[in-house]
Amino acid sequence: TANLHGRHYLRELDFTTAEIHHLLDLAADLKAARAAGTERQHLTGRRLALIFEKNSTRTRCAFEVAADDQGATTTYLGPDSSHIGHKESVADTARVLGRMYDGIEYRGFAQDTVTELAAHAGVPVYNGLTDECHPTQSLCDVFTMREHSSKPLEQISFCYLGDARNNTANSLVVMGSLLGMDVRIAAPRELWPDPLLVSECLLLGQESGARFTLTDQVEDAVRGADYLYTDVWVSMGEDHDRWKERIDLLLPYQINAKTMAATGNPDTALLHCLPALHDRRTDLGAELATEHGLEGLEVTDEVFESPASLVFTQAENRMHTIKAILVATLGRD
Ligand code: CP
Ligand code: NVA
Repeated sequence: TANLHGRHYLRELDFTTAEIHHLLDLAADLKAARAAGTERQHLTGRRLALIFEKNSTRTRCAFEVAADDQGATTTYLGPDSSHIGHKESVADTARVLGRMYDGIEYRGFAQDTVTELAAHAGVPVYNGLTDECHPTQSLCDVFTMREHSSKPLEQISFCYLGDARNNTANSLVVMGSLLGMDVRIAAPRELWPDPLLVSECLLLGQESGARFTLTDQVEDAVRGADYLYTDVWVSMGEDHDRWKERIDLLLPYQINAKTMAATGNPDTALLHCLPALHDRRTDLGAELATEHGLEGLEVTDEVFESPASLVFTQAENRMHTIKAILVATLGRD
């Protein structure tokens, strides 16, 4: 079996297909053990630093609960609460934290920052989201699909709709390509992924058998899909003024009852990394509803709250999959 001890997880391709499968199996074992009350601790006495230069609900809590379950401790460094990158170089922070901690999680803006941390920390570094990718999310996403479907990942199809240039989309399609899945994207041309990422996916597909579809035609892309996936239309760190432009561009890619029906598959399920703008119960949701008369953005409330929605199981699975990463890279037997 794979030995991932001491490894970083900065992007999907840091792990091979076999190593990802190992993490998925481990996550399933850990989830089952927790439910049965038989979980064994592999991280007793380990210490983790959690650096967040952007806000988080799921990722932070998943790291903290996973660590706690496994006997490790965490220190949370929130936006603006440490010197990293401002009063002290990333390399210096990395060397300091590396002397005190056994692993470091980093969420922020540039992918270069997490790479720089990894280069200098001397302990495993985990990418908790950058502008470029969200690799702990994509591990959770394929875990959730594997868990929910009664067929192997290689036979599962998913379609990502919306802003296909963002971190979540980049990670999801690379992960799907690595695992030999039927990967589809429906997005306006302006928001198609970087051509380099597309070539990477095609190349991975030659090895893994993954299929890759990129189109601006929703009906073609969603036909038969097992999963429809979407994410917010404006991501953290992007300009709030983008909303109008993005709504005009992306409304045809909203996941609504019509999109679900267009799959022709009665078992199509909804995935969303969350947070989601599906109604007006948030400040932003209310503002957008008032300004644009929309009750849901990337997904309607009707689909979000329907039995087809797996989003809260998916959110829970962040914890089990992050735990698997921690146990595999830092665990004692
Ligand atoms: N999905 C996700 O990463 O959520 P948070 O921003 O709440 O961590
Ligand atoms: N694309 C979103 C994902 C949040 C988990 C963002 O970066 O804000």
